[in-house]
Amino acid sequence: MELGEFRRRREELISRMAPESVAIIPTSPEKIRNKDVFYPFRPDSDFFYLTGFNEPHCLAIVIPDRPQGEFIIFCRERNKDAEIWHGRRLGLEGAREGLGANHVFPIEDLEDILPGLIENKKQIYTPMGRYQEFDNMLMKLVRQIDSQNRSGVHAPDRFLALSTILDEMRLFKNEVELKSIKKAIDITTEAHIAAMKKAYAGVFEFELEAEIMAVFMRHGARSPAYPSIVGGGENACILHYTDNKDRVADGELVLIDAGAEYGCYAADITRTFPVNGSFTAEQKALYEIVLLAQQAAIEKVKHYNNWDEPHSAALLVIVEGLKDLEILSGSTEEIIETEIYKKFFMHKTGHWLGLDVHDVGDYKIDNQWRIFEPGMVTTVEPGIYISQSEVNIDPRWSGIGIRIEDDILVTKEGNLNLSKKVPKTISQIEEIMS
Ligand code: GLY
Ligand code: MN
Ligand code: MN
Repeated sequence: MELGEFRRRREELISRMAPESVAIIPTSPEKIRNKDVFYPFRPDSDFFYLTGFNEPHCLAIVIPDRPQGEFIIFCRERNKDAEIWHGRRLGLEGAREGLGANHVFPIEDLEDILPGLIENKKQIYTPMGRYQEFDNMLMKLVRQIDSQNRSGVHAPDRFLALSTILDEMRLFKNEVELKSIKKAIDITTEAHIAAMKKAYAGVFEFELEAEIMAVFMRHGARSPAYPSIVGGGENACILHYTDNKDRVADGELVLIDAGAEYGCYAADITRTFPVNGSFTAEQKALYEIVLLAQQAAIEKVKHYNNWDEPHSAALLVIVEGLKDLEILSGSTEEIIETEIYKKFFMHKTGHWLGLDVHDVGDYKIDNQWRIFEPGMVTTVEPGIYISQSEVNIDPRWSGIGIRIEDDILVTKEGNLNLSKKVPKTISQIEEIMS
């Protein structure tokens, strides 16, 4: 992404900040996996959104109207030994040029320099409560400033959640961001197709996960956006199943919910298909309901409709469908009112998608479901899950879990299904697997 894109975002942030305020944006801490091994580093999404910087141990400060420059970075200095062992660093000079920072300081000097940047400001924007160590450090510095008030300095007296500004900005994706999202989705599309082609009766779930990961990596998506879910048969009824360790028996469905992360942007796609390549009559019957529910929901994703309309549409199709199959009984209104359907469809139909797989952005405004607007990206992902633990069900339906998930962009004219190239209808799936 170009430097100008990040500058534009910071300018937008500045235009929305309260007078006499400062924004302090830390990145994620490194996390120990075991002993001296760390989890792969992933920058904080807000920090990345404003800087494009993906090194650990750094922090950004934005100060509107600061005469010496509004954008300050703290980061690691270059260090020959450390770089030989652990990898390259941008360094102070590099950060000035590479990130367009007005001032760059060593991260070691943070606690000495930060008080001078925040004293006499009225309010501080931070990602409050996200990083304990950062919060503690900031509070310590604020107390320190406060203790000097006899010498005329004044500690900020209001903390504001940075999210009150950034979440709204991040919710609307421009062309530059959509390019990254589309790339993540295109890679994911290829990965799902590869897994369908690889599947056979008796395949281990992790073999299909390996296929997915191989495609992600081959395209430079070194990490999935979230741990891939590959669940055969009954395992598909565990919504966030990630053990991925069992064989998928002949005649079972397998649910794959996997998305690549590209340039820190997420894809989030689910397909469910018969491991041996052909649906049984029961699987077909349930699959068709989920597919119709998803289609009904996608049609509702459009400007001026509200957030809940896709879910209501999907829910209605699922309830009617399960009634037709005599899995649910009673009036549709009653089933929805009593939420008895939640035994089989226990989650909502989507979420915002962006830098985070469950991206930021309010779903309600003033207690009303918010209206879809162009530039928003949402998933649409209804499902039916009939676990073997549901005892009062005809056993022919048991152990079937189905979810179908696509990534939908709201446009001026309606919407665009960004993941529509992943086979989805029964005939498309059976054909690609044959
Ligand atoms: N992959 C997580 C979700 O679909 O929400
Ligand atoms: Mn999702
Ligand atoms: Mn998903």
